[in-house]
Amino acid sequence: MSGYPALPGGIAFGGDYNPEQWPREVQEEDVRLMREAGVTLVNLGIFAWALLEPAEGEYDFGWLDEVVDRLHAAGIAVGMGTPTAAPPAWFTKKYPDSLPVTREGRRVGPGGREHACSSHPAFLSATARLVERLAAHFGPHPGVAMWHVHNEYGAPLGECYCAWSEQAFREWLRARYESLDELNQAWGTAFWGQRYGSYEEIEAPRWSHTVVNPAQRLDYARFANHEHLAHYRLQRDLLRGTGKPVTTNFAGTVNCKSMDLWAWAPELDVVANDHYLVGERTDNHIHLAMSADLSRSIAGGAPWMLMEHSTGAVSWQPRGIAKRPGEMRRNSLAHVARGSDAILFFQWRASRFGAEKFHSAMVPHAGTDSQIWRDVVALGADARNLAEVRGSRVGAEVAILWDWESYWALELEWRPSEDLSYLERIEAYYEALWREHVTVDFAHPSADISRYRVIIAPSSYLLSEASAKNLQRYVESGGHLLVSFFSGIVDEHDGVHAGAYPGVLRDVLGLCVEEFHPLPAGGTVQVTGGPGRVWSERVRLGGATAVQTFEDGPDAGHPAVTRNALGAGAAWYVATAIDPRDLLREVLDRASVARPPGLPDTLEVVRRGPYTFLLNHGGSPVAVPAVHGADLLTGSAFVGEVPAGGVAVVKEDM
Ligand code: GAL
Repeated sequence: MSGYPALPGGIAFGGDYNPEQWPREVQEEDVRLMREAGVTLVNLGIFAWALLEPAEGEYDFGWLDEVVDRLHAAGIAVGMGTPTAAPPAWFTKKYPDSLPVTREGRRVGPGGREHACSSHPAFLSATARLVERLAAHFGPHPGVAMWHVHNEYGAPLGECYCAWSEQAFREWLRARYESLDELNQAWGTAFWGQRYGSYEEIEAPRWSHTVVNPAQRLDYARFANHEHLAHYRLQRDLLRGTGKPVTTNFAGTVNCKSMDLWAWAPELDVVANDHYLVGERTDNHIHLAMSADLSRSIAGGAPWMLMEHSTGAVSWQPRGIAKRPGEMRRNSLAHVARGSDAILFFQWRASRFGAEKFHSAMVPHAGTDSQIWRDVVALGADARNLAEVRGSRVGAEVAILWDWESYWALELEWRPSEDLSYLERIEAYYEALWREHVTVDFAHPSADISRYRVIIAPSSYLLSEASAKNLQRYVESGGHLLVSFFSGIVDEHDGVHAGAYPGVLRDVLGLCVEEFHPLPAGGTVQVTGGPGRVWSERVRLGGATAVQTFEDGPDAGHPAVTRNALGAGAAWYVATAIDPRDLLREVLDRASVARPPGLPDTLEVVRRGPYTFLLNHGGSPVAVPAVHGADLLTGSAFVGEVPAGGVAVVKEDM
């Protein structure tokens, strides 16, 4: 990554701007209002392909020139979109086989967006022709600060099963495997007699009436990620010559299951993420924090951009739940606390027509005489007041392992229980840490993790031998590792590691698992420290000691939580789905991870450089007597208390 865009003033503030939906008078009013709200950055043209190239090979950039000039004259920077997420009708008409096909074999229809297959040759060449021209035309404009490529790769459809994709899959396999023998071996095709005699025999793993080879599915997920990334790279390389940073907005780091964002990050100049609350979850501020921490981790700790979020309700959830008073501000500043140097929204002005007309915006349908507008203007002032925070970094002593390949593999069919989910355990451990006021990084299992005091592996089902060795080295040299059940089970091809579970983790954990005993739907088992859900299993100690025991169920009397002292560190294991808070406290204490004492778990506390962000998600004021310094949001000394629903950003006295 080569760096954050050069943007005017404060934390970047603004959002997606679609002037093509509005007459000129409104566009002029837009710029006046943007200045009033303190907008510094807008993303343009993200879905405007049909207007920029109204017929094949005929380009019309004039209307957008005018908009860019007007914004530039007002001191507002532009993130220039490349509109490839919305291929025009003429393109689809000419290349109907560019429409993606689902795994079930349904061809996606036009009239929406994201309706071109990333492997289709005509889509690739049309992309290249348009982006080359956009680069040459807008690249030199001083008002264009960066490039916003495509939109949310992989959403809503990650994998395409059309004939072009299938052909590209074969090419990809030829490059991945040295020989067909190696492929047959890796996919375990001796099972159900699936052996392939030539690459031509291999098809995309389409829907079938029974389970399709899981190793093939896993490779198809890798392939799909590769194809989208190749489409991004094609554009990035054409834009590079302009000297302006290039990025693409992720469709939510946590929920964008189809893209391996560890592979994307090195290809971007700055990581950009979109985040939307699940309106009906009351703990959604914790999931927001998790998304932000994952974004920062993908960015390698560097400042990242919150490219989209909402001022209020979204239009694509079952119910468009509005944000409560103060919630938008807390949401925005929580992203900043966790490393974002931007607060951007979808979108500037609410659309009057189209699919998203009931989506909130910075300028709602009600106009400026509205609470949302007043809150937007106030947030613009916050963004300016936080200018000095820009570029500072968040430190974390604890990391949770995160691996998209494990996410994909764990959620294929025919696992020992359908109650297993990649996110469920990660969220449970994350939430417990959040409530302990512990800031968390996410790390790939093969990454350098030596700087963390504690590593948590709640969902490491797929774990390579090399990654397991990495964890072992970490523990031997003094680290504290906590592993949850159904981790270390399979290799990169979804093949069970040889011998007893948990394969490559047996040594570091000092135990093995004889048999899984998943619980019936809704079932629980009693463990010394409380109830366990979803899972029970027969743990046999081989060096580790039992810390807690199953008190009933299929493994009554056998270990449920264990600890293995190894080298200078220790490895813990949890054999069921517990509420991890008490156990985590013990591990954090032993690993000397300090937490601020005496604060309620409704107060979010994050340190970013010399700044302490205090976000009160509760209904009563919270006293924070230990924090002293200037509150950047008020410009005065921090009063030692955060009001109900309020935020303080304290630059601590040295
Ligand atoms: C995002 C998308 C935006 C807009 C938004 C609505 O996923 O990138 O274009 O549709 O959702 O919440």
